[in-house]
Amino acid sequence: MITNTELEYKGNLYPNQIINFKQDVDKFYFTTENGVVLQITVLRNSALRFRYATENVFEPDFSYAISEVASRGYSSLEVDETATEYLILTSKLKVLVDKKTLRIQISDLEGNIINEDEIGFHWEENYEYGGNTVKMSKITQNAESFFGMGDKATHSNLKGKRVNNWCMDQYAYAKDQDPLYKAVPFYTGLHKNMAYGIFFDNTFRTYFDFAHEKRHVTSFWADGGEMNYYFFYGPEMSKVIMGYTNLTGTPELPPMWAMGYHQSKWSYFPESNVKALARKFRKLKIPCDALYLDIDYMDGFRCFTWDKKKFPDPKRMMAELNEDGFKTVVMIDPGIKIDKDYWVYQEAMEKGYFCKRGDGPYMKGKVWPGECNFPDFTNPEVRKWWAELYKEFMSELGVHAVWNDMNEPAVMEVPTKTAPLDTRHNYDGYPCTHRKAHNVYGMQMVRATYEGIKKYVYPKRPFVITRAAYAGTQRYSSTWTGDNVATWEHLWLANVQVQRMCMSGMSFVGSDIGGFAEQPNGELFARWIQLGVFHPFCRVHSSGDHGDQEPWSFDSDVTDIVRKFIELRYQLLPYLYTMFWKYSKYGEPMVKPLVYFDQEDPQTHFRTDEFIFGEHILVCPVQEPNSQGRRMYMPRGNWYNYWDDSMVVGGKEQWVDADIDIIPLFVKEGAIIPKFPVQQYVGELVIKQLDLEVYYKSGIENSSFYEDDQDGYEYNKGNYSYRSFKLNGKENSLAIQQFKDGDFVPSYTSFRLNLHGLPFTIESVEVDNEVVPLNQVKPNGNNVIEVVKNFTQVLIKGK
Ligand code: NOJ
Repeated sequence: MITNTELEYKGNLYPNQIINFKQDVDKFYFTTENGVVLQITVLRNSALRFRYATENVFEPDFSYAISEVASRGYSSLEVDETATEYLILTSKLKVLVDKKTLRIQISDLEGNIINEDEIGFHWEENYEYGGNTVKMSKITQNAESFFGMGDKATHSNLKGKRVNNWCMDQYAYAKDQDPLYKAVPFYTGLHKNMAYGIFFDNTFRTYFDFAHEKRHVTSFWADGGEMNYYFFYGPEMSKVIMGYTNLTGTPELPPMWAMGYHQSKWSYFPESNVKALARKFRKLKIPCDALYLDIDYMDGFRCFTWDKKKFPDPKRMMAELNEDGFKTVVMIDPGIKIDKDYWVYQEAMEKGYFCKRGDGPYMKGKVWPGECNFPDFTNPEVRKWWAELYKEFMSELGVHAVWNDMNEPAVMEVPTKTAPLDTRHNYDGYPCTHRKAHNVYGMQMVRATYEGIKKYVYPKRPFVITRAAYAGTQRYSSTWTGDNVATWEHLWLANVQVQRMCMSGMSFVGSDIGGFAEQPNGELFARWIQLGVFHPFCRVHSSGDHGDQEPWSFDSDVTDIVRKFIELRYQLLPYLYTMFWKYSKYGEPMVKPLVYFDQEDPQTHFRTDEFIFGEHILVCPVQEPNSQGRRMYMPRGNWYNYWDDSMVVGGKEQWVDADIDIIPLFVKEGAIIPKFPVQQYVGELVIKQLDLEVYYKSGIENSSFYEDDQDGYEYNKGNYSYRSFKLNGKENSLAIQQFKDGDFVPSYTSFRLNLHGLPFTIESVEVDNEVVPLNQVKPNGNNVIEVVKNFTQVLIKGK
């Protein structure tokens, strides 16, 4: 037990005994004799908020992280009091507040402790800047594991680590380097099969210590601001992540082409090279939906301009590319070149939109164009102005999407790599310095970009990418893991980082496939593509310094492998789109680490390599050179090997063959997976028949399939189709029931059911209770059946 004297000695201050208690509907206020106020808000039965004020005064209650549509409401709420504590009771949780120390203990209704304070809230006054360094310490429970925290490039289980959050440009970052580009102060704890989440909504630099300094203590603290955290209870991890994602929001559905394969480099220019690139994709029949223009398309790196020597007629070029099925994505950075003849600079100067330093002068920093000023995106008026700057790009020239980079913000030639801390920000009417605004700067930039793009690509859907992010940025943008390196270790990192981001509410994420810095060999590139096609955002990008990184830049065997896997992604697009829909609607992570899939199995708590793509597909990349396979942990359950339909029983580690043209890939038994034919780009073909891959299971399994126009907003008016399938396999029969919702009418009229693992020979088929002659439904062989798309039940019998 830490004594108060010990704390005082270390310069910490801490609450003493509670002298006042007050309830205001769903809010509880506990005031201590020395002026600490704890406010507990019950958001939902299993979601609570804790805020602490010192000197009796809370900070203004404003957050960029929280979604406007976060749900609220609980079914029961009671308060009790004993001589030593207060007790708050919801239908899921019990919260004890200790009267002497203000310490908290949270347990389930059976009294199992989920989370408890060690010292709990304490603080140090910050004499240099004013305010407090606010701190929270918790007891690390027995065998507790920790997950989440954004883009940390380290083992997925954070037990024993200390990390901090401060958005940083980290070119060619290393494993364990910290912090990186994103600040997501949210983690999930897991012990005794109980998962809970803590989101510390504080935008200052935050620190998290997961039993690193002291084995029995997990703590978090911030350089300023308020101790303000949310608590989510599971006990399933899925409930925790979805609770957090409900609070911080999800994106609307992007256009389906954003889930296609994308090709990028720093930089493709001039126009003739971009055109040649596009032609080559089509000639080699490698599907591709988007080409990226990095900074060199601009005139002297001035945002919202074009270098007319390299791109004499961007409108024509983009229209021609579009004819051929390519979307053009262009980069926009936050730094605006200081140039009195440049209209964006002039406008921002006239309107006073650039950030200023503490004593008044403009904040200056060097980026690509040389000295720049930086718009204050935390000012709502600036965001409006910035959004309007996209008008010409999007509605007149035909740019399809925008990529925001360097928005940590990155500043060159200074040791801090960013803006000085005394830089001032509007912060939506709560003025502050960069200490507080830094971590949301990139988020507010991409928010403004998103608003502009959304407005000017209408009636199409917007697609935006950002490098920097704070919690909640997923509402506006997709993201990538920044400047990685073409090494095998970085392939491992890409895998872990994408899973971690998905566990942090940001599923629309991918890595620079092949590595940004340095040059991969063909083998590494092939293995990385095999992983990358299973990431929600799938883009090859490279610095271009060491050679090209196109699918054909290596030998022809590699080109064939790359084509094979990109084709597989295009086939799986309806499955991927359904994953996105579930993410958008429910906050369900698109990619799930094994611990999320089966938290009861302790083997999963320290796994990093295997993950579940969507709901039913298990992937495990090969991450070492010269491999013909690898050992991997098969999670519990029965799995079909995707490549040969052989059945593998999970719950143990085992060897899996995977030559250079194979990635270990398994389908959960009972799954029904929709597949498109291979297209060279989304929307190329009018699909006449849709494949459903049906994996027999003895027993019941549910699957779902969401569709709509693949772009636009008609789906909001009911013009979508949601099909859920219930598969029920018996020894001599297989039944599939379909439940359908929505008015969308797809182009195809029938499903082709490709039956995997059927243990019997088909003797009869009934569709909606009518026997159909076998020659009508069985075009070839025993394992393919064609049925009308809107069947309610297919019953296959055999012996
Ligand atoms: C840094 C980004 O991370 C990278 O992707 C980009 O190519 C360069 N900036 C140049 O714009």
